[in-house]
Amino acid sequence: MQRCTTLLFFVFVFCNVLAQSQKAAIIPEPVLLEQKEGEFLLKNNTAIEIASDNNGSVNEVANYLASFLNKPTGYNLNVTKASSGNSIKLMLNTAYNKELGDEGYMLTVATGNVTIAANKPAGLFYGVQTFIQLLPNEIESKTVVDKKEWTVPAVVVKDYPRFGWRGLMFDVSRHFFTKAEVKAFIDDMAKYKYNLLHLHLTDDQGWRIEIKSLPKLTSIGAWNVKKIGTFNYFSDPLPDEPRDYGGFFTQDDIRDIVQYAKEHFINILPEIDVPGHSLAAIAAYPELSCTPGADKYQVNSGEKFMVWPPKGHFYGLLDNTLCPANPKVYEFLDKVFTEVAALFPFEYIHMGGDETARNFWEKSPQIKALMQREKLKNLDEVQSYFVKKVEKIVESKGKKLIGWDEILQGGLAPNAAVMSWRGIDGGIAAAKLKHEVVMSPTTYAYLDYMQGDAAIEPPVYATLRLNKAYGFEPVPEGVDAKYIKGGQANLWTEQVYNFRHLQYMLWPRAFAIAESVWSPKEKKNWNDFVPRVERQFERFDLAEKKYAPSIYDPIITATNGPNNLPVVELSTEIEGLDIFYSFDNSFPDKFYPKYTAPIEVPKDAVTMRMITYRDGKVIGRMVSIPVATLKSRAGIK
Ligand code: ACM
Repeated sequence: MQRCTTLLFFVFVFCNVLAQSQKAAIIPEPVLLEQKEGEFLLKNNTAIEIASDNNGSVNEVANYLASFLNKPTGYNLNVTKASSGNSIKLMLNTAYNKELGDEGYMLTVATGNVTIAANKPAGLFYGVQTFIQLLPNEIESKTVVDKKEWTVPAVVVKDYPRFGWRGLMFDVSRHFFTKAEVKAFIDDMAKYKYNLLHLHLTDDQGWRIEIKSLPKLTSIGAWNVKKIGTFNYFSDPLPDEPRDYGGFFTQDDIRDIVQYAKEHFINILPEIDVPGHSLAAIAAYPELSCTPGADKYQVNSGEKFMVWPPKGHFYGLLDNTLCPANPKVYEFLDKVFTEVAALFPFEYIHMGGDETARNFWEKSPQIKALMQREKLKNLDEVQSYFVKKVEKIVESKGKKLIGWDEILQGGLAPNAAVMSWRGIDGGIAAAKLKHEVVMSPTTYAYLDYMQGDAAIEPPVYATLRLNKAYGFEPVPEGVDAKYIKGGQANLWTEQVYNFRHLQYMLWPRAFAIAESVWSPKEKKNWNDFVPRVERQFERFDLAEKKYAPSIYDPIITATNGPNNLPVVELSTEIEGLDIFYSFDNSFPDKFYPKYTAPIEVPKDAVTMRMITYRDGKVIGRMVSIPVATLKSRAGIK
């Protein structure tokens, strides 16, 4: 008996060691993943083999894999048509496998060989991404890693996406990002099996795409005054301040980006945001406005020019809208969409349509005349008139129209798809009208929001934690799922001044959204997701990519206590963390009081500080919060 127990103990330890070193941690979680015995060893003579390739795409996927692997391993792996030894084989199925569809794949990793099989090259590409995630973390290293055993646990994976639209929106207008940065964004999207890049190309702060027939859009509209601080609170630009901050993509740049995206199996959805958010266009071509004095307008540099009155509608301090009553606007849009349609092969064009401030329309004689002529009862109908005309223009270029959910107001254009952002109601309404819908609600998918406590995060007006983002479910109850094309997360860049911070805002929440749009609903599991996120953190460290460590920081809640002092409740988004705190202005560590229950703030305390540990090691950031802030959160005057 004793012998038996000892043996069992060693078997247990052995299995545990095996499990620890080899457990697959894939994001997004595959449909089916079975871990098998053994492992594949990637060697300097491993062949990357392609069995058939009619159009060159399989070869492209194989080359992508070879060049990815060669960088950190220092190997010189080559793509071959036949091999006999250790190999990674990419194969297109001879008979279409319905279950896998166009983007699914089967991946088998065994001792001596790896096979990825799919119906289409896209599936092979996603199989390759899963294979890469199975390799040791060092595969993400930017430089050659010496003497590493590049082992991959033996597995069988069957995988395919839940949705065909798996999007990320990148706002390149509020702050301009370079072509190289857009490509880096695409690289990372592809790793997590996103297939749709929505480029928000125009807004009040900049027009970012060359339109050859309208050169002032970029000679004037792409430039503003560089400001540093908190967007929307900047001082007004002075007349002599240089307008040299910004930039735009030439049409060659766009073609290059589109091609790069295609090589990563990503479509690009271009957004031209009209009739609101159009100050950059109006600064270039003031005749597009209904409002006298628009010829004095300039591209916004982050100074305040809009207010949200209590009723919730936008109120412009200046008129940033294209005039729906002005025929020149439709001529302008025809030119824009002609060139945009020719540049982007994707079937949809996004017309924005959100947050249109209509207070200038209320006063405009041209709008009043339009309403009489077209029998439009209110400004919703004026807006809808505009959207319907835009839909006709977009369709005349052979494209379909999609817009933010405000395009429902006053009546949806006949064929338009709706991107639901103000929660899910717009999406529900559009699906009930049998229109296509993409879900991207602020409540789950707005990656510009803070991801932790305002005491430590760069300030934004709302918060979206990782665990909330992980709850994203694109198909609302009671809605016919066939109208929901999928979902996407949106990264607005008002407060994002550089690419490092952009990465911080994207990750890890974009992992959560990726899993929500790829993985089967029943496979989503927060406790299983967190360690997989942490594995990605290790890989990001090696790749020198930034991410937000906000899940390690405390969640701080303050309420008014019995002595009119704040009572602070601390919790954490993930399990297993200890929180240590101070009220004496010094920096707490694990020798300070450990949080166990709500604490009343000492009467004269000025600052509370806290830090988290895991297994005795510091893991969170030092968080400092003024007692005045705690009082204000608790409603104490
Ligand atoms: C939006 O966030 N205004 C679509």
